[in-house]
Amino acid sequence: MDRYVVFGNPIGHSKSPLIHRLFAEQTAQKLDYSTLLAPLDDFSGCARAFFQDGLGANVTVPFKEEAYRLADSLTARAQRAGAVNTLSKLADGSLLGDNTDGAGLVRDLTVNAGFGLQGKRILLLGAGGAVRGALEPLLAEQPASLIIANRTVEKAELLAELFADLGPVCASGFDWLQEPVDLIINATSASLSGDVPPIAPSLIEPGKTVCYDMMYSKEPTAFCRWASAHGAAVSMDGLGMLAEQAAEAFFLWRGVRPDTAPVLAELRRLLAL
Ligand code: ATR
Repeated sequence: MDRYVVFGNPIGHSKSPLIHRLFAEQTAQKLDYSTLLAPLDDFSGCARAFFQDGLGANVTVPFKEEAYRLADSLTARAQRAGAVNTLSKLADGSLLGDNTDGAGLVRDLTVNAGFGLQGKRILLLGAGGAVRGALEPLLAEQPASLIIANRTVEKAELLAELFADLGPVCASGFDWLQEPVDLIINATSASLSGDVPPIAPSLIEPGKTVCYDMMYSKEPTAFCRWASAHGAAVSMDGLGMLAEQAAEAFFLWRGVRPDTAPVLAELRRLLAL
């Protein structure tokens, strides 16, 4: 059986095995996908052992940067992201590193939510790995502007410089911004503690601005609640991004693109239990 895993630490609660099992059933692909708890001090040894006979792997916290260094070659988007969430063993035995997180986000917004990004004013909150992974795919959609706002402004400035050749990207502090934007994406980890980054409600144009939280939970996240309370046209959480980044990885490995809609519906049903 073709073997795939997701590496992480911790990894017990990963939804990836379920998602890929549903994709495999739907597309009649024979494969085995499980979790693999890698030791914090030996991701690369663990990954090399797996790839003796394994074909592909997803990589999650805290190993995405190590996977980037382990890969023998990188896709352009993984190169830009500085992180790898998908490893694929090529015919010559070498490992290709890809990053499907940003593509998953863009697909969730443009296909699932039907919200085109071309010409739009986008505000990204945060300047960590999640933002870095999203920048190349977002800028490829040709927004009118993309502002990276972060608590530590210097980190936003560094990212803006790093991606300046790809489009109109600039950095900001949270409290410098007042004018409405078309899309606000929360990529901070503030939601984990139930916090919302301190941005002005005037950034939301009631009935028009779309708000997206990369986090998801059973109940609407703190950011989604904040967005709805201030009249956002749509407030979405990141469950769709999870399903879409997995679909991109599945496509890379198997050459078949699964239909994410029924899988996302099942994830949403299970989350509500
Ligand atoms: P990830 O890989 O998920 O992006 P990360 O690299 O640890 O995680 O980045 C976390 C991001 O959330 C950072 O932008 C962080 O801001 P700082 O760079 O100033 O640390 C942001 N963040 C975390 N907690 C926050 C909070 N309570 N309010 C606002 N921003 C927060």
